[in-house]
Amino acid sequence: MSFKYTTLVLFNLTTLCNAANILGIITTASYSHQVVYINLWRELSLRGHNVTVMTTDPVKDPKLVNLTELDLHWLYKRVANISKIAERATIWNFQQEVIGLLLPSSEEVLSYSPVQELIHNKHQRSFDVVLVEFMTPEFLAFAELYKCPKIVISSLDVFTHIHRAMGNPSHPNLRPEIGSVFSRESSTFGQRVINTLHSWYLSYFHAFKNYPARKKLIEKYFNLTVSVEDLLSDVDALFVAVYPELQRAKAHGSTTVTIGDLRPKVNSYYLCYLQDLKEFLDSAKDGFIYFSLGSNVKSNELGSEIFKTIFEAIKEVPFKVLWKYEGDDLPGKPDSIKTIKWAPQQNVLAHPNIKVFVTQGGLQSLEEGIYHEVPFVVIPFFADQMQNANLMKTKGIARVVERKPSIKKEDLMGSILEVARNPKYKQAVKKLKELILDTPMTGLEKAVWWTEYVIRHKGTKHLRNLAADMPFYEYYFLDVIVFFVLLSVTVLYVFIILGKLFYKIILCRILNNTPLIRKKLE
Ligand SMILES: *[C@@H]1O[C@H](CO)[C@@H](O)[C@H](O)[C@H]1NC(C)=O
Ligand SMILES: *[C@@H]1O[C@H](CO)[C@@H](O)[C@H](O)[C@H]1NC(C)=O
Ligand SMILES: *[C@@H]1O[C@H](CO)[C@@H](O)[C@H](O)[C@H]1NC(C)=O
Ligand SMILES: *[C@@H]1O[C@H](CO)[C@@H](O)[C@H](O)[C@H]1NC(C)=O
Repeated sequence: MSFKYTTLVLFNLTTLCNAANILGIITTASYSHQVVYINLWRELSLRGHNVTVMTTDPVKDPKLVNLTELDLHWLYKRVANISKIAERATIWNFQQEVIGLLLPSSEEVLSYSPVQELIHNKHQRSFDVVLVEFMTPEFLAFAELYKCPKIVISSLDVFTHIHRAMGNPSHPNLRPEIGSVFSRESSTFGQRVINTLHSWYLSYFHAFKNYPARKKLIEKYFNLTVSVEDLLSDVDALFVAVYPELQRAKAHGSTTVTIGDLRPKVNSYYLCYLQDLKEFLDSAKDGFIYFSLGSNVKSNELGSEIFKTIFEAIKEVPFKVLWKYEGDDLPGKPDSIKTIKWAPQQNVLAHPNIKVFVTQGGLQSLEEGIYHEVPFVVIPFFADQMQNANLMKTKGIARVVERKPSIKKEDLMGSILEVARNPKYKQAVKKLKELILDTPMTGLEKAVWWTEYVIRHKGTKHLRNLAADMPFYEYYFLDVIVFFVLLSVTVLYVFIILGKLFYKIILCRILNNTPLIRKKLE
């Protein structure tokens, strides 16, 4: 069945879509962002499209002759202190801090000479579609320049205002903002009030601070007067790397496509090339714990208190521990712990001896763990990680260890032991994986199909979400509500007037005619 479907899809694509020129722009200097898209570029180029991408992590694969990568690796210097941002992030400053990092990056990219050439040589080149990551919507101006459709792509769920621009419901309690610590699963009345305020505050921030700054970049570098709001509301497709089975099903228009994870999955075979690591993991007969806080949070840059607590806890667990630790030495490290600066994560997760994955709760780690059926202990740090942690807890696949106000050793140890020993976590991960994989098309197939669909039809105006063009007051029935309120007030008013008249005219006349009162009046 699934085989038939795949051939059908391939047939459609090869017959209806000629080789196109595709421009992809992902300037976020973060490995976890870039890896998600690499496979889309690869796949599109293998299908004969001429793909040009701006990326901070080029794959430089000589076999991909139709893929041209513009290397922006130097942008990593801009995010050198991201661990510190994680440390001081609150729901009120998270998006501002990240955007504060990305704005000067964008300016640097736009003044980079190969990019300048793309801007100024528009008469010698053409593009059939432009794909841009959601955090840097200013690059959508390339689509204006080349008069082609635009796709926004994301490695996590996007900012709420982007859903709003697409006409998708952007209710603050169904879609808490990125950086919010609350999720639908756990929100109390007080949290819903905060979520709503947070959402309003961010609407203000984007409309009056963020977008105007990006509009200036567009004016300066593209000589265009288009606003970011207009660019976003004119997007032809939005690819979000979420799974409804995991992140909950939410309503959205036809051109918002959930693509999940685009990466191919691997087994533990590759470990044969890393003898040292393989021996350590093979010898863990009672199982091992894999500890990694992802590519953004560096274990050796953690505050000393939290670092000490983590070290103390994993020293004492009765399992071997593989720790992704970026520092050089770790005094007092027992033999049961092995540190590694960079781990071939999927291969480690695929190892049969693994018991628990201790993670910061980044989406890519989460997806890899689920694929390899490894239950989690989550220590969320920032961005979407608090919400991911809540989801994982609700799905029964993880225990969450709070980092604020302070991380507790007993809490971390207890959670690791519980998840390692109680089979219910592993069973829940297995079940979730089954649900996620039971789908007619993989995320990559969907993303490729939709990209080519957008190219074939020169956009998706025929699928435009009705809600995207509806004024705010109409969408929320504000005019209708005001009408009914006024009507009720009027009717009430009329009743009161009539009541008073009734009292004055009729009641008084009756009373006036009663002998007792007449006597009194006389
Ligand atoms: C490159 O693109 C051409 C068509 O434009 C296609 O025939 C060829 O298979 C592609 N090669 C690779 C390695 O992607
Ligand atoms: C493919 O894209 C590259 C880089 O943008 C460009 O140099 C090349 O001329 C393009 N090839 C074709 C056949 O359009
Ligand atoms: C990162 O922090 C160091 C030390 O606090 C500082 O010297 C450096 O300028 C910072 N880098 C960036 C890109 O902000
Ligand atoms: C910018 O665009 C305007 C009109 O669209 C044009 O008159 C002007 O020469 C352009 N400026 C530059 C620097 O290209």
